[in-house]
Amino acid sequence: MTPPDLQAAFDPEGFRREGHRAIDILADYLARAERGADLPVVAWQDPERLAASWPAEFPAEPSARLPAILERALAEAMHLHHPRYLGHQVAAVLPAAALLDLAVALLNNGMAIYEMGPTASVMERIVCRWLASLLGWGEGAGGVLTSGGSAGNLTALLAARQAKAGFNAWEEGAGGGPPLCVLASDQAHYSVARAVHILGLGRGGLVAAETDGSFRLRAAALRSALAAAGRSGRKVIAVVASACTTATGAFDPLAEIADFCGEHGLWLHVDGAHGASAALSAKYRGLLAGIERADSVVWDAHKMLLIPALATAVLCRDGSRSYAAFAQEASYLYADPRPRDEWQNVSLRTLECTKRMIALKVYGALAVHGTRVFADHVTSSFDLARRFAERLRAAADFELGAEPEANIVCFRHRPPGATGTAAGADLDAVQRRARRRLLESGRFYLSETRLPAGLFLRAVIMNPLTGEDDLAALLDAVREAAGPGAG
Ligand SMILES: Cc1ncc(COP(=O)(O)O)c(C=O)c1O
Repeated sequence: MTPPDLQAAFDPEGFRREGHRAIDILADYLARAERGADLPVVAWQDPERLAASWPAEFPAEPSARLPAILERALAEAMHLHHPRYLGHQVAAVLPAAALLDLAVALLNNGMAIYEMGPTASVMERIVCRWLASLLGWGEGAGGVLTSGGSAGNLTALLAARQAKAGFNAWEEGAGGGPPLCVLASDQAHYSVARAVHILGLGRGGLVAAETDGSFRLRAAALRSALAAAGRSGRKVIAVVASACTTATGAFDPLAEIADFCGEHGLWLHVDGAHGASAALSAKYRGLLAGIERADSVVWDAHKMLLIPALATAVLCRDGSRSYAAFAQEASYLYADPRPRDEWQNVSLRTLECTKRMIALKVYGALAVHGTRVFADHVTSSFDLARRFAERLRAAADFELGAEPEANIVCFRHRPPGATGTAAGADLDAVQRRARRRLLESGRFYLSETRLPAGLFLRAVIMNPLTGEDDLAALLDAVREAAGPGAG
């Protein structure tokens, strides 16, 4: 017999009661976060202090109420729905997508094989095909959803290696043929370098091609990078282009890079974790010109598509190629232990075995809201970044780090009378101090990045509710927080 406590824990009526209460708490929270006025972006606490304040042991008997845990977790979280959240590239999610994610958590279909997630497998195929069609790909394209852009880049590069190594690297290992390498700019996301190391390509496995003054990979520099790889005895298998880069949001020139890859028989992988969503925007899709010639593309729905993390598509122009990434047998999962092209068994082409029903929240959000809100979000956030850049240009005491192409704006404050060169440590200290004080005060959250000229503040406009007034207020807040006595 099921012990009474366990039975009670699964009581549907208890779930209904707690669920209604939880939704009320979350809706009240959302209202406060979106209003912004009476909630800090984050109620900052020192990590050790925060760690010490949470009970680290669990009683044998039920002791806490769910609302209490929830309310405290909400109070202490980073508030992405706050209009003054301008931090890392994670979406302020659509509330409907969060509800769908609740169903994902409750259903917990493991997804490895069709039997363990029939509907989500079908939705996944539809979502991937739809995303592929936005890239300009045809019927033969396909892919999977996986847990994040980092896992996505690894997956795509595994497929690239199987396609281009000239030997079966899955069977023989990285040492089964000539040493391999990948070309990318030094602005590529760190997960690319990580993937290269995981692939066993080691130091020298990633050869950097130069960027131009706008942090875009210079297609002409690929030639010298290819030659440099050849001189060190490396066989190049792929070029990774960024659309866009993480630090400044620069879009690499995909058409020229595709020409180069075509000429040299290389796999073109586009890391579109952030910027592939520009494909939805009639105004900005030109930034991706040439993406239709890529062999693989990674696209995060938890960045610009307003979906809860993690939700990444790994797409291949030739869908059958994506099965090469994990060319492995698993007789306990698949009836016939040979790898086959079976879209319905998603674990054939992902790192995960048990996988969340990622597609339910993506498919559901698209079905509920329609596609236009997603296109509008991309267009308006990219527009707003351009208007923010104009404001920065007009301010004598601010400098732009780069012209924004996406919704990422790097800038720094140069207080009147600031000493030091552009790259001077004192100017770096001004930015560091300002960012830290804004974080600690909860007035704004933004990140920072190092560019050749020095340290820059980095505002990413992720929240559709962020307005021009928030960005105007940001400049005043930076001025104030940068002062030596502020704080
Ligand atoms: C260009 C790019 N690629 C990959 C990633 C990693 O994605 P994830 O955080 O989903 O692993 C990021 C994250 O910011 C990114 O900006």
